[in-house]
Amino acid sequence: MSIAHVAPAARAVPPGADLSVWPASARTAPGGDIVVGGVPLAAVAERFGTPVYVLDEGEVRERCRTYRRAFPEADVVYAAKAFLCRAVAQWIRDEGLGLDVCSAGELSLAAAAGFPSERIVLHGNAKSPEDLRAAMELGVGRIVIDSSSEIARLAALVPAGARQQVLVRVVPGVAAGGHAAVRTGTDDQKFGLSVTDGSAQHAVARVLGQPRLELVGLHCHIGSQIDTVKPYQAALRRMVGLMARIRDQYGIELPQLDLGGGHAIAYRPGEHALDLLTLAHRIRAELADGCARAGLSVPRLTLEPGRAVIGPAGVVVYRVLSVKRTGKHTFVAIDGGMSDNPRPALYGVRYAPRLIGRHSTAESRQVTVVGRHCEAGDVLAADVPLPGDVHPGDLLAVPAAGAYHLSMASGYNLVGRPPVVAVADGSTRVLVRRESLDDMTRRDIGL
Ligand code: LLP
Repeated sequence: MSIAHVAPAARAVPPGADLSVWPASARTAPGGDIVVGGVPLAAVAERFGTPVYVLDEGEVRERCRTYRRAFPEADVVYAAKAFLCRAVAQWIRDEGLGLDVCSAGELSLAAAAGFPSERIVLHGNAKSPEDLRAAMELGVGRIVIDSSSEIARLAALVPAGARQQVLVRVVPGVAAGGHAAVRTGTDDQKFGLSVTDGSAQHAVARVLGQPRLELVGLHCHIGSQIDTVKPYQAALRRMVGLMARIRDQYGIELPQLDLGGGHAIAYRPGEHALDLLTLAHRIRAELADGCARAGLSVPRLTLEPGRAVIGPAGVVVYRVLSVKRTGKHTFVAIDGGMSDNPRPALYGVRYAPRLIGRHSTAESRQVTVVGRHCEAGDVLAADVPLPGDVHPGDLLAVPAAGAYHLSMASGYNLVGRPPVVAVADGSTRVLVRRESLDDMTRRDIGL
């Protein structure tokens, strides 16, 4: 996410041929195209128009399996905020993962897709009455308490004779994450309950005082796009410490510990992804040691990866609309931008677009790829190499586009949100169709 993640390692691969941040199925094809999931991307662009988001189903499934293999003893819960549609909910369900949702909307969509409600975890720093009602009606497995005011509100909704499983979200005081906006492990932000000022301990006491709530464990999510294991180990130690204090004070051993998500992926060749096997190995050792020292039995772990499950499975294809050469820069403008991917504007992230659909022998030049929106800050990738003859009508493909693009897309400039097309074994399936002008104007009912 930041420059700091770029490894200096020299690569033997020539610039345009590096597919290291693409789905594993990606292959270069004759004529300068790239094939993903057995489908040439230029053909997808031709058939469905641009911009188009392509999701490699096999890559999503394989990533789910990698998590399950790395953490066979844990619950792996996919964070739906990274991207959710009904087909994805079914892939996640079929691969045996749970689902982390944070609104009645995400919850209802998952339920409509047949996602088993007992495998759903509900989050949210400010859960609305509708969120909590939907959770009760659909019977979600676990609810993560994020503020003390929510405890009595939730308990009041639980039917007589029933008990709702809850976890308390704790701020462990660990700073980690690729950008200030996604660091959630310290006290200076809105999520969770502080251990330092005692709000976490207070919330635990209040939950224990509610007979309709069953406190099953503690939760923390320290941030996003974290590429080293150390912050997780630090958080784990503090969580185990708190579990031991809860045992000492109330005589209960909490059976679950949820360590959230945040596992980094590489957006550009040379960037580091968090190594899952190292994470699994170190967390397991740290948990075993910490619990042994505190005389606790080892709790069941939950992990909540979003980006690392779906991010690398997505590729977006844009068409070049204009090429403008100013004194210092060449601006290559595409037919999408901050309305389908607000991440560069929000977090300063840069991507690695490449020309597809034709072969160019032109020497590569540094250009700045910009979006079509009415802001100078609508920059997708500054100073990236593209063939010097890039021109309107060309196709640019951007890898690592599966997470937090469309789930954060907006209606800015009324350009309409792009479709999502799944690719697998050489065939395509539209998962979400393009947003039409009609979709957008239908809500405009004031005239
Ligand atoms: N669990 C909780 C409670 C979370 O809040 C999040 C993400 C996750 C799990 C999943 O985190 P992941 O594994 O995807 O990093 N829009 C930002 C990321 C915001 C993450 C919000 N919470 C971005 O585009 O980088």
